[in-house]
Amino acid sequence: MAPTGLSRRQVLGAAGATLAVAATGVLSYRAYDGAVLDPGSGPAYAPWTAWRELPGPAGLVGAAVLAASPHNTQPWRFAVAADAIDVLADPARGTGSIDPFGRERDVGLGCALENLVLACAPQGLRPVVTLLPDGDGDRVAHVGLVPTAPGAEPLAGVIDRRHTHRGPYRPVPLEPSTLASLSGGEPSVVWIAEQGPREALGRLLVDAAEALVADEQQSIDNFAWFRATHDEEERHRDGLVLDGQGFGALELGVAKLLPPASRVDGDRFWVDRTRDVHTATAAAYGVITVPEDDDSRARRLEAGRLLQRIHLRATSLGVALQHMNQITERLDREATTGTVSDLGPRFAALLPTGARPLLTFRVGLPERPARPTPRRSFGDVLR
Ligand SMILES: Cc1cc2nc3c(=O)[nH]c(=O)nc-3n(C[C@H](O)[C@H](O)[C@H](O)COP(=O)(O)O)c2cc1C
Repeated sequence: MAPTGLSRRQVLGAAGATLAVAATGVLSYRAYDGAVLDPGSGPAYAPWTAWRELPGPAGLVGAAVLAASPHNTQPWRFAVAADAIDVLADPARGTGSIDPFGRERDVGLGCALENLVLACAPQGLRPVVTLLPDGDGDRVAHVGLVPTAPGAEPLAGVIDRRHTHRGPYRPVPLEPSTLASLSGGEPSVVWIAEQGPREALGRLLVDAAEALVADEQQSIDNFAWFRATHDEEERHRDGLVLDGQGFGALELGVAKLLPPASRVDGDRFWVDRTRDVHTATAAAYGVITVPEDDDSRARRLEAGRLLQRIHLRATSLGVALQHMNQITERLDREATTGTVSDLGPRFAALLPTGARPLLTFRVGLPERPARPTPRRSFGDVLR
């Protein structure tokens, strides 16, 4: 019996109110910690606007760090002089068993190099690029900067509007002429847009995602780059975040209020989204290939430059793009573990003979805009 004559209902009511207040406290904390009310805010997102204010070579580095990179690892450092910039790999920022040969890391460095080069003309600088000036090693490019009259570079204008778009795309096909204009007629891009091959590649991407999460080491290495809270985003200023998952505003708010997902739950979420959103709504896929007998680092860097240009052209045309590399991540993993599956032959059947897949992505017209993801500051990436 409740003391002081309070009824059970009153006690339960009071307890319920206490619980409600406690719950509100927890949710408010999550709301604050997850930046629910103001997504994409805070110092980790400042580089998306600050780069335009940075003068000369600093502005070029500010543009470079906004590039795509595998798992948002930002595997780069820059040595800046008045008349040149060196782009260097940061060996500490890898994804382990996801990228055992550093292929994706080199591609990400190529993406950053392309942003840097495109940002030169408006700054009144002409870039002179030497790839791998030491032959191999961490210095992947030397960019000489020659003063010239400032010029227009339309792709430089969308560097800060390019984001990987993991949300749903509208059920509208893209014209072959649109796809050709995205790749600039580059022969190393294979477009897969017809229904049959597109669905076959979609199934392959889902199967590869299933295989990746079933491989405990790959699952662990994947999860290591997830940043579950706003606090983690600000601490690391890198990695994969909820803002980058292509949610609508309400979905994003709810996802931020829920407790952070475990590795297993995160894996399941990714496989489900791959099946129900990514592949289900892709208008077409692009595959950047290299010759079967030339998988050199220079090729990967050039492929990264091309990938970044394609993404910037897509952005300027209002076309969304999502990188989807789980098939090649599995093929590299199979090569290191000595296992074999049907993923390689099934992918080869969709590509020209002798073409080796390096990068895969989907394109389409988005239902909603994509959001920016964190970046380390200019000071963090200087050597
Ligand atoms: C080489 C490379 C591989 C990538 N692979 C994937 C992928 O398999 N799946 C995916 O959703 N995003 C992938 N991404 C996109 C990155 O996760 C993304 O660039 C990074 O999180 C930064 O976000 P942003 O592109 O929106 O700036 C890849 C990017 C690069 C450069």
